[in-house]
Amino acid sequence: MASFPHARPRRLRRTAALRAAVAETAVPPAALVQPLFVVDDGVEASPIASMPGQERLTPEAAAAQAAAAGTAGVGGVILFGVPATKDAVGTPAHDPDGPVCRTIRAIKDSGAALSVWADVCLCEYTDHGHCGIVDATTGDVLNDATHEHLAAAAVAYADAGADVVAPSDMMDGRVGAIRKALDAGGHDDVALVSYAAKYASAFYGPFRDAADSAPAFGDRRTYQMDPPNVVEALREVDLDVAEGADAVMVKPAGPYLDVVRAVADRVDVPVAAYQVSGEYSMVEAAAANGWIDRDRAIVESLVGIRRAGARVVLTYWAREYAERLA
Ligand code: PBG
Repeated sequence: MASFPHARPRRLRRTAALRAAVAETAVPPAALVQPLFVVDDGVEASPIASMPGQERLTPEAAAAQAAAAGTAGVGGVILFGVPATKDAVGTPAHDPDGPVCRTIRAIKDSGAALSVWADVCLCEYTDHGHCGIVDATTGDVLNDATHEHLAAAAVAYADAGADVVAPSDMMDGRVGAIRKALDAGGHDDVALVSYAAKYASAFYGPFRDAADSAPAFGDRRTYQMDPPNVVEALREVDLDVAEGADAVMVKPAGPYLDVVRAVADRVDVPVAAYQVSGEYSMVEAAAANGWIDRDRAIVESLVGIRRAGARVVLTYWAREYAERLA
């Protein structure tokens, strides 16, 4: 009899080669999508203080970043606009000469191989900072009235050449409305990835600085999901798939890995997860203080999101991971 215990799981952890051979989860750069912030003429391209290492870029600089990310093997970029002007209904969101449309065209003209995603929402473009149209007397965010504005933005991005449009507003029924408008506009080949389970999260704080999109009054709790809920996330996902979503997203990622797993077990469309600005900035801040091993924390956080069941991961570290950490 061999000595007790017979089972020694440590045997397969003994060398790096053995560990790599039995690793259950990989993070291929092609599964990653890099968010980029792009500024309008009249808005200064500048570093984002709350997201060290991230910048607001001109469309030309964003196209260069996208090309470099594509060369490194990153699967896609997702674009967020920082417009020079805002109004009550977010008109600049569908401006064909706005920063997002210009950047899409610049990336496509450059021949970059990666996919180009456009976030579809009104909050960066409305003067009140809400993701939908606001009733002037009650202050309520109006659901159905918002659809046509989101659809106009999605069609503008598709016209500019986007491969994917990704509505992040959380209005009910918007996936169907956007799909219908895309098809009517001759874009039945443009994919729709819905932010299906998007939670009202404190972890978006740094993004709202970056995109200047914090709500001027109230908060997003009447449209984004309540953090305690997971059954409701499945309902949101089912509705979006029924309305024509090609893939569904969970957001944020790290604090919602149980939701990622539940959704991945439920649907047979690909699941994406968004490692949001707060998840990024927490690691960067701890690393800047010497409190955490930055590279290991980045890789471990991405492995965790993939292990939970996300096929695609949106992360501010996409390019760096592909270039240096993969
Ligand atoms: C727009 C949008 C937000 C994010 C992605 N799309 C902000 C919000 O809902 O307030 C957050 C991304 C991040 O924090 O990295 N609705």
